[in-house]
Parts: sequence; structure tokens; C-alpha cells
Amino acid sequence: MWMLSLCLVWIYGMRSSLGQVGSPWHTGAENDYYYEQLHPDDDLPVITTDEQQFAINLGELLVIPCPVHNLGDFTLVWRRGNQILWVLQDRGEGPFIQAVSRDPRINRNGTSLIINGVLPDDESIYTCEISTSPPRSVSHTLKVKVIVAVPPTVYPANNRTTMMIKMGGTAYLRCVVTGNPMPKVTWTKEGLAQPLGEGVNLTLTNARAEDNGIYTCTADNGAGDPVHASINLQVMHPPEVMADKIEVYSGVSYDATLACFVNATPRPQVKWYRENGSPVDPLRLKVAYDTRNKKHSLQFDRVQKGDFGYYTCNASNFMGNSSALVRLTGRPKPVRFSSPKLGDKDTRYTLVWEVESYSPVLAYNIAYRNETDSNEKWVNFTVPGTTSSSMYHSKEHTFTELEPGASYYVQISARNEFGSSDINETFAFTTVDPVGTDPPDDLLHEEEVIPNTDQYQDVVSEVGGVIESQAPPLPEVDIVTAQSPVISPTDNLTEMEEIFQEIFKGNEIPPAEKASVSDSTSETFSLTPREKRAQMVALVTAISLSSFFF
Ligand SMILES: *[C@@H]1O[C@H](CO)[C@@H](O)[C@H](O)[C@H]1NC(C)=O
Ligand SMILES: *[C@@H]1O[C@H](CO)[C@@H](O)[C@H](O)[C@H]1NC(C)=O
Ligand SMILES: *[C@@H]1O[C@H](CO)[C@@H](O)[C@H](O)[C@H]1NC(C)=O
Ligand SMILES: *[C@@H]1O[C@H](CO)[C@@H](O)[C@H](O)[C@H]1NC(C)=O
Ligand SMILES: *[C@@H]1O[C@H](CO)[C@@H](O)[C@H](O)[C@H]1NC(C)=O
Ligand SMILES: *[C@@H]1O[C@H](CO)[C@@H](O)[C@H](O)[C@H]1NC(C)=O
Ligand SMILES: *[C@@H]1O[C@H](CO)[C@@H](O)[C@H](O)[C@H]1NC(C)=O
Ligand SMILES: *[C@@H]1O[C@H](CO)[C@@H](O)[C@H](O)[C@H]1NC(C)=O
Ligand SMILES: *[C@@H]1O[C@H](CO)[C@@H](O)[C@H](O)[C@H]1NC(C)=O
Repeated sequence: MWMLSLCLVWIYGMRSSLGQVGSPWHTGAENDYYYEQLHPDDDLPVITTDEQQFAINLGELLVIPCPVHNLGDFTLVWRRGNQILWVLQDRGEGPFIQAVSRDPRINRNGTSLIINGVLPDDESIYTCEISTSPPRSVSHTLKVKVIVAVPPTVYPANNRTTMMIKMGGTAYLRCVVTGNPMPKVTWTKEGLAQPLGEGVNLTLTNARAEDNGIYTCTADNGAGDPVHASINLQVMHPPEVMADKIEVYSGVSYDATLACFVNATPRPQVKWYRENGSPVDPLRLKVAYDTRNKKHSLQFDRVQKGDFGYYTCNASNFMGNSSALVRLTGRPKPVRFSSPKLGDKDTRYTLVWEVESYSPVLAYNIAYRNETDSNEKWVNFTVPGTTSSSMYHSKEHTFTELEPGASYYVQISARNEFGSSDINETFAFTTVDPVGTDPPDDLLHEEEVIPNTDQYQDVVSEVGGVIESQAPPLPEVDIVTAQSPVISPTDNLTEMEEIFQEIFKGNEIPPAEKASVSDSTSETFSLTPREKRAQMVALVTAISLSSFFF
């Protein structure tokens, strides 16, 4: 039996190689008869698939199915057109396969034909045929797709370039792309350097106001330039209101502009109210809106006395409302100090400051203390105010009877008919130290500003006890004798100081009245050990010099 089949295959192979058309089993009526005798109809094999079309990319693997029910010992042949690819026969001893095609890409899995890596020439009709009489067969068509580069196109899904969602919701951004090969899609957001993701879909969960913006998908497949599509995502959220300046300084009959920045989607309604909730006078005041920076402003042409006070910039949309408080004030601005931090005298210092006040300054309240005083020991006094043709005022005050080489802190508040200025700055100055040549480290930095806090104890001046070769100016004797020199044994004494100690050994220096400083208020100062030492050194130098000359 199998000998016969083999023989048939052999014959067919010869015939097909001779270019004859048709099925191998259509060759002899006597054979058909023979098969039908052996296999009644209900035992005949059945192919359980319909004809199919395959469109396969060049180079891909193709599996062409031919599932057979009850093949029995019939022979199954796969052919391309008339060319036999392989023959399968199972006679109960395992399948017998006759590979006819020498093409190594042609393979088999069960009764399926496999073409490993299709080529353009593979485009053909493939037939799976069983040696019944008449033969039963199925034919599949293969189309080989040759890749043609098609430049990419990209559109926002549904061509909708604007998308609105509510805050907290999820935004599904999608772009539709075409092109061959399939373009790679990347997402970016205007103003962000980092890409947000890849693929046609971009999902933003729990959207926030900051997610507002223009999202761009870029499609690139190497064929032609990358293309872009943008979606403007609007996350609807309640207004966020921020005052431009929380306090606006002006004066009667000057102009003034209060402003606030409002961030809201959809666009909010913005209104200005007085402190008591009454709306501002729309006839006298101008309300403006700058779309570029979302700045809403309230403009006063000529401020009247009654205009001073608090205003709210109130914004609302259907998502909610919010407001910011702005103060229109006639009080002076904080004082700015303009004198150098290091004075040029040892016991005097002239402090210079400026202030902006639209109306005359009635008085300046000055508070000062020395470097070792605690924060509660401010000495407060008042100096007369200033009038000015402009809003700029300048004033100076000389502190007298200060300690040489000592640091002082000062705060000034200016007062006019509308109130007192805020104290914005604690100014530090230092008097000249006639002995020490090195100014304190922290005063070498010119414009250093000491913050308005309690950390003054950290700012301790380090005056080095350097002795100059020539005699330093003599301090007033009464100051020197005013203090009992107390030199602690732990001090690292210089040679001169040791001499000084020798001279005064056993001699008590009588206490005297304390030195006083300041013009309007009297305040006592005592010397630091270092200052005492410096003065002693000066005295010793003077004594040794005088004994040398006379
Ligand atoms: C052969 O076909 C069977 C089922 O049709 C499948 O499970 C198996 O993976 C295939 N083997 C190969 C090598 O393709
Ligand atoms: C989107 O618009 C482009 C041209 O503007 C058009 O070619 C395309 O068909 C549109 N797509 C849809 C889904 O409307
Ligand atoms: C993108 O999302 C759409 C639904 O919005 C979905 O049909 C599609 O499969 C998604 N595509 C990918 C690549 O996830
Ligand atoms: C403003 O917001 C508050 C809650 O923050 C709400 O109670 C009030 O009704 C809102 N007013 C308007 C006019 O939307
Ligand atoms: C804003 O004004 C509305 C009235 O228009 C008021 O109901 C709301 O409370 C105000 N919102 C704020 C935060 O002041
Ligand atoms: C003195 O000035 C200091 C610092 O400016 C201030 O804290 C204090 O309240 C003032 N005291 C008086 C009595 O004005
Ligand atoms: C407060 O002082 C700082 C410097 O210390 C200055 O930059 C700032 O502008 C001042 N503020 C006002 C309102 O003058
Ligand atoms: C004293 O100062 C000298 C140099 O100025 C130094 O070498 C010495 O260690 C110091 N002594 C003490 C006790 O600090
Ligand atoms: C600072 O002033 C206090 C008195 O208010 C005085 O006792 C102290 O010695 C002074 N310190 C300096 C370094 O002048």
C-alpha cells in the first residue's frame, strides 16, 4: 500500500517537474476506484478549515493550517501552485514525511505548512490536498506585504484640540497616528523638559491645577520628519488668588494700584471689596485685567484719605471662590540705613537713614543697644520728624559717648499721620577701636544685614590684641581709671600686659563714676575684658614712651 503511495508521489514529482497541471490523484481512474473500495465515505478524512487569505510582511514567519480529521492512512500533500512542497503519510507506525522542496525555509508542524521568513516570490496559492478520490483539498492565498515607508501623521483623538476636566479627575489624552512603519509616539508638556510618556495614550490621574497646559504628542517613524499634535488640557479648578503686594504705600492725592494674580479655570469673575464687604466705587476706581500674567488691578487716580484701609481681591468661578487681602496705606515704608557699618570715630557715630513717606514724618522712634545687651535692653528715644518736597526723606542722628571698638544695634520706625513704619531691618554699626587694627570679621562684609531676630549674641566682635610699634592715641584717662582692671589668670597675656601687671601689682585702682553715652537718654556702658586689656596696653605704652623721652 505505502509502496503504491510512494510510487504515486514519485510519479507526481516527475510530472510536476515536467510542468503538468493538476492533482496527482487525478491521474488514474483505476486508483480512485481502489481507494473507494478500501474507504467507505463516512471514514474519509475531512479538512476542517476554510480557504484563507494571508497578508504577511516580508520576512515574517507564516503558518498555513490544514487541520484534518481522520486522515487515516491517506496521503497529505502541500503544494505551491503545482509544485509539491512535502508529503505526509501516517500508516500507524508514525508519520512518514517526504520532503520534496529543497527550500530550507519550508517546514511542517503537524499538518500545517510553515514558511520561515516569507519572500516576495512566495506570493502564491498554497494547497493542502488529501489523496481521496476525488481528492479533498483546501487552498490558501498568500500576499506578501512589502514595507513601503510612509511618513507619519498625527492628530488629536477626534481632532479635539481642547480638553476640559474637573480637578481631581482623570485626563485621557490620545493621539491618532498613521505611517509605515508604525510611528513611535512621545508626549511632552509645554514648559517641561522631561517627556511624560510614550505611546498614543497619556493618562493623567487626579488632575491638579498645575496640570493645565499644552500637551504635545510627537510621532516619528524615521520616514520623513517627526510630526506633532497638541491638546490644550484645561483642568477646571477654583481660583487661586495671590496679592501682588500685600501692602501698597501711597499718599493723599497720589495714585496707587492694588493688584492680585488670579489662577482659575474656567475664567473667574474678579471683584474688589472694601474691608467691610462693600464693593469699591466703580465710577471713581478703574479695574483692569492683564491677560498675559493674569493680573487684576484696582487703580486709584487720586487717593483720598478715606481710601486707606484693607481691600480684598475676590475671584469666583463655578468651582469655588477665594480672595486675597491688600492694604492701601499712607504710613511710611520701612526705613533704609545708608551710613557705613564701620564708623570713623571711637566714641561717636553718625547714623544716616532714608524713608519713603508721602506725608510729613512726625517723628522717628529710635531704639538701640550694645552688642552684649540682651534683646530686652533696647534704649528707645524719639527724634523730630522731617518734611520733604517729595516722598523721600533723609535724616541723620549722631550717637555720642559710645565705647570705642564696640558694636551697636539700632532699629528705627518712622511715624506719620497714618501710622508707623514697620521695622524691617536691624542695623549694626561699630565704633573705631583705637588699639585694635583688625576690624571685626563680621563687619568686613560691607552690606551685611542682621536679620530682625534675637540672635545677636552670635555676633561677637573679635578684636585682636595687636600692639602697634608706634603709640596709639591715648584714651581719656578718666575712662581708664573708671574701671578696676580684672585680668583673669586664664587670659593669654602678651609681654606688655605682663609688664602692666607688674606695675599695678597690689595697687587697687579706685572705682569712679560710670561713663555715660547718648544725648537724650543716659545709659551706662562697661568695658569688656578685651577692651580693658587694650586700654591697659595703651596706657603702658604711653608710660614707657614717656619714660623714654623724659
Ligand atoms: C505546532 O502546533 C501546535 C498546535 O497547533 C503548537 O502548539 C506548537 O507550538 C507548534 N509548534 C511549533 C514549533 O510551531
Ligand atoms: C482630523 O483633521 C484632519 C485634517 O485637519 C483630517 O485629515 C482627519 O480626517 C481628521 N480626523 C478626524 C478623526 O476627524
Ligand atoms: C488607547 O486608548 C484607547 C481608548 O481610549 C484604546 O482603545 C487603545 O487600545 C489604547 N491604545 C493603547 C496602545 O493602549
Ligand atoms: C465661596 O466659597 C465658600 C466656601 O469656601 C462658599 O461657602 C460660598 O458659597 C462661596 N460663595 C460663592 C459666591 O461662590
Ligand atoms: C467672594 O465674594 C463672594 C460674593 O460675591 C462671597 O460670597 C465670598 O465669600 C467671597 N469669598 C471670599 C473668599 O472672600
Ligand atoms: C523700644 O524698641 C524696641 C526695638 O525696636 C521695641 O521692641 C520696644 O517695644 C521699644 N520699647 C518702647 C517702650 O517703645
Ligand atoms: C526690607 O528690607 C530688605 C533689606 O533688608 C529690603 O530688601 C526690602 O525691600 C525691605 N522691605 C520693604 C518693604 O522695604
Ligand atoms: C598664647 O598665645 C601664643 C601665641 O600668641 C600661643 O602660642 C599660646 O599657645 C597661647 N597660650 C594659651 C594658654 O592660650
Ligand atoms: C552694654 O551696655 C550695658 C548697659 O546697658 C553695659 O553694662 C555693658 O557693659 C555694655 N557692653 C559693652 C560691650 O559696651
